[in-house]
Amino acid sequence: MELEGKVAIVTGGGRGAGEGIARVLAREGARVAVVDVNPENARQVARSIDPGGTRAIAIHADISRKADTEAMAAQTLQAFGTIDILVNNAGIEGPPVLVQDLAEEQWDRVMGVNAKGVLLCCQAVLPTMIARKRGKIVNIDSIAGIRMTFFGSIDYTASKHAVTGLTQHLAWELADHRINVNAVCPGGIMTPMMEENTEPEMRDAIAQRVIPLGRFCNTEEIGEAVSFLASERADMITGQLLAVDGGVLTGYGEDLRAVLRKRMEEARVLGH
Ligand SMILES: NC(=O)c1ccc[n+]([C@@H]2O[C@H](COP(=O)([O-])OP(=O)(O)OC[C@H]3O[C@@H](n4cnc5c(N)ncnc54)[C@H](O)[C@@H]3O)[C@@H](O)[C@H]2O)c1
Repeated sequence: MELEGKVAIVTGGGRGAGEGIARVLAREGARVAVVDVNPENARQVARSIDPGGTRAIAIHADISRKADTEAMAAQTLQAFGTIDILVNNAGIEGPPVLVQDLAEEQWDRVMGVNAKGVLLCCQAVLPTMIARKRGKIVNIDSIAGIRMTFFGSIDYTASKHAVTGLTQHLAWELADHRINVNAVCPGGIMTPMMEENTEPEMRDAIAQRVIPLGRFCNTEEIGEAVSFLASERADMITGQLLAVDGGVLTGYGEDLRAVLRKRMEEARVLGH
């Protein structure tokens, strides 16, 4: 139990990756505030972690609104007395459109949640973390924050590059206060967002041709990486991006690997 005695906030904890993260952190001993713009989903997840409500609470907040993020921090402090860990997981994706068709409204909405929301949640918990001279912030970024999205549009890629920038700048600025800031960069995770934005044939093709390990992540696998970065085992790690992507960023999906393997086998025959 690497998080015994810790208090964690997980944004977007009402479903998908956030739900998996909340479950793993709770399993590791943390008390968890499950924050979501969908209050019913947040309540269900919190209740299923602890029906008594002493180890998990639900908080209704839209993280793109400053007043909501301040209320989120205040409610967590009221329930649990402190905040050790912030997991900035809530994120959205608009419909995939070409850059020339992207509506200004979609850009503002996606940037408002994925980029500004991370900043606002950090600002809300910082007074507590700075006063205690410790804290762990883990941002759920994406491999789209290192390269680009597989199937979304430019606003999503740009918003995740913003998360990468926030992670590195915050890590540098908050090091004085002994607050670690890192990011987990998932490739494809099987979540409602993934199901809403892709067809089964497309997911099969991606799993076979783009993901060397041949499948999408499950949500708990993201939680395992978050738990490590939120624990004291990661005290000397800050400003890092940890891809949990089944090897996508190696760039060697099925097609290319077949070519490389053939070339290497030929070289072996020739004795190179
Ligand atoms: N699914 C993937 O393949 C994938 C890949 C890489 C990165 N990610 C990232 O992982 C995170 C979680 O994605 P997911 O697939 O679980 O998505 P999801 O849509 O299944 O779940 C997101 C949750 O966040 C909540 N949420 C959305 N906007 C919010 C807001 N303004 N305030 C509070 N809560 C809000 C939603 O209600 C939902 O419960 C996102 O940041 C996403 O960009 C996902």
